[in-house]
Amino acid sequence: MKYEVLTIFPDMVDSAFRTGVTGRASGEGLIELDTVNIRDYSTNSYGSIDGYTYGGGAGMLMQCEPVYQAYLEALRRLGKGEPADSGTKPVRVVYLTPTGEVFRQKKAEELANEKELIFLCGHYEGIDERVIDEIVTDRISIGDYVLTGGEIAALAVMDAVARLIPGVLKNEDSAETESFNTGGLLEYPQYTRPDEWHGRKVPEVLLSGDHARVDNYRMHEMRRVTREHRPDLYEEYMKHRGIN
Ligand code: ADE
Repeated sequence: MKYEVLTIFPDMVDSAFRTGVTGRASGEGLIELDTVNIRDYSTNSYGSIDGYTYGGGAGMLMQCEPVYQAYLEALRRLGKGEPADSGTKPVRVVYLTPTGEVFRQKKAEELANEKELIFLCGHYEGIDERVIDEIVTDRISIGDYVLTGGEIAALAVMDAVARLIPGVLKNEDSAETESFNTGGLLEYPQYTRPDEWHGRKVPEVLLSGDHARVDNYRMHEMRRVTREHRPDLYEEYMKHRGIN
């Protein structure tokens, strides 16, 4: 997988991505991360890339041309030609925006099938709609709140996609059994040594060695946790199973 990130804060994206599991995966060549600094494509001598909003309104907007030139640079680095005038989009471009589709595990699975992805991070009050229409294929929000820019959202999406790429997680099991890969239920609580801490005991069943009982208990806990913490997901799960 190759990620190209169009951003005005390349260091922020780089340093976060190079830390931890994604950092190791990029060291092993499983994922390549590259950033393009949109500011390098300013169309004026001040180096600015933003402008006032037509029709009035607070704040500044990112202009079309610097974003478009950064996009063309990303395409060149991916070995793609200029996009044809017919409006074809040779690579999926994910624009991070609170007005996008809310990101869920299913979307991560879909994006993990791509060989390359371009992420577009906005700042100020957003980006001129015309360049979005021209280059973007997917608009994604990471939740119903507003961040100061798209970088943290891009990192969240890149991380969720990265861990689905074979070899990125060392224990292949963990992508399979955890929350959101359990038929719509959240993961059960887990415990490690010691078996008593601050007077709190590990549930007895987990020390029993009885695998059938353990499985039963875990399924029960998955249902309980989902019902208590995410009633919306629980309702979806029950509907899916034909229980209302
Ligand atoms: N940019 C600002 N807020 C965002 C959000 N919630 N999701 C994605 N991109 C954003």
